[in-house]
Amino acid sequence: MSDANDRKRTVAVVGATGAVGEVVLRLLAERDFPVGELRALASERSAGTTVQFAGRDVEVAEATPDAFEGVDFAFFAATGGLSKTLAPEIAKRGGVAIDKSSTWRLDEQVPLVVPEINPEALEKHKGIVSCPNCTTIGFVMSLEPIRKLAPIKSVVVTTLQAVSGTGKPGIEELERQKGELAAGQAPSLDVYAAPIAENALPLCESFLEEGGYSTEEVKLLHETRKIFGDDSIDVSMTCVRVPVPVGHSAAMLVETERPVSPEEAREALAAFPGVEVVDDPSQNRFPTVYDVTGRDAVMVGRVRKDLVSDKLWLWQVSDNLRKGAATNAIQIAEEMMRRGLK
Ligand SMILES: NC(=O)c1ccc[n+]([C@@H]2O[C@H](COP(=O)([O-])OP(=O)(O)OC[C@H]3O[C@@H](n4cnc5c(N)ncnc54)[C@H](OP(=O)(O)O)[C@@H]3O)[C@@H](O)[C@H]2O)c1
Repeated sequence: MSDANDRKRTVAVVGATGAVGEVVLRLLAERDFPVGELRALASERSAGTTVQFAGRDVEVAEATPDAFEGVDFAFFAATGGLSKTLAPEIAKRGGVAIDKSSTWRLDEQVPLVVPEINPEALEKHKGIVSCPNCTTIGFVMSLEPIRKLAPIKSVVVTTLQAVSGTGKPGIEELERQKGELAAGQAPSLDVYAAPIAENALPLCESFLEEGGYSTEEVKLLHETRKIFGDDSIDVSMTCVRVPVPVGHSAAMLVETERPVSPEEAREALAAFPGVEVVDDPSQNRFPTVYDVTGRDAVMVGRVRKDLVSDKLWLWQVSDNLRKGAATNAIQIAEEMMRRGLK
């Protein structure tokens, strides 16, 4: 990143041994983030082990309040409980916590930011900035260009979410169950309530008591409204866990205040930063997680008018560990530096 404000920053990665933390470390180096000192933090269990950063080993330390002394940016990719106790400690010490958990997302004092959409929200930060859920980011990135053409009234969405959305334990569960099935054994259960190998689970873990929705589903409604600053948008959803290692997909039916044609939508989507359109059904060209894994783009295809209404269908895929998590968090820090906020 080239920037007039190129002072080196002291950076902490909390959850450095986890699925998102590893990608944060890789992307900080890949994006040439101005890292002076790097602190890799995790639980007591991992203290003393090492992680890789920019081709060298970095020793992992336990995440305690003292570990944030002098830190400019702390990327939080651990547990919600840890963010709740430690993020204020960073703010208190003059640093900025950029949090990947759901803990602060709906807090009125905390900006919830996708830099391509609502970067101005960063101006009001008080030391904690929240990243939306991995599913929400791809969702709002593919709605924003359409929203600029015509206000959105409602969206009906079904997501197909990768096991890495549940972190390393989800990836390990899929791998273990594939091995068990290949050996003729019944899949053993640890993370998910039913086998994920060769299956699709119409429930992403946590259930809310009321209404029978998972927390994953409810996030899509409330986070979307906060990011867009529009409480009138209705989102109806089902989130499905699928046996894909990395990459979330979503089928979306979008209702706008005036009809938007597929051609108009494709043009607006293709012009939007961070979105790519792959949409040539006659050649069987459409985006899949194979195209997006390891990349930052949100890819959109199958843009078509609904057969029985003026609504639009979209198919959208993104890498949940990159734009859905690490990339978005680092973009937030880059935007804050650009704005002279840190
Ligand atoms: N995976 C995704 O696609 C995704 C996307 C968006 C947001 N998120 C959010 O990002 C966060 C991390 O998710 P993940 O998928 O990377 O999970 P993960 O693979 O399970 O990693 C969890 C990380 O948190 C650390 N940790 C756990 N308990 C801790 C404690 N008490 N003190 C310090 N560190 C602790 C772990 O350290 P040890 O190795 O020491 O246990 C590990 O580094 C979660 O809040 C998740 O909701 C994930």
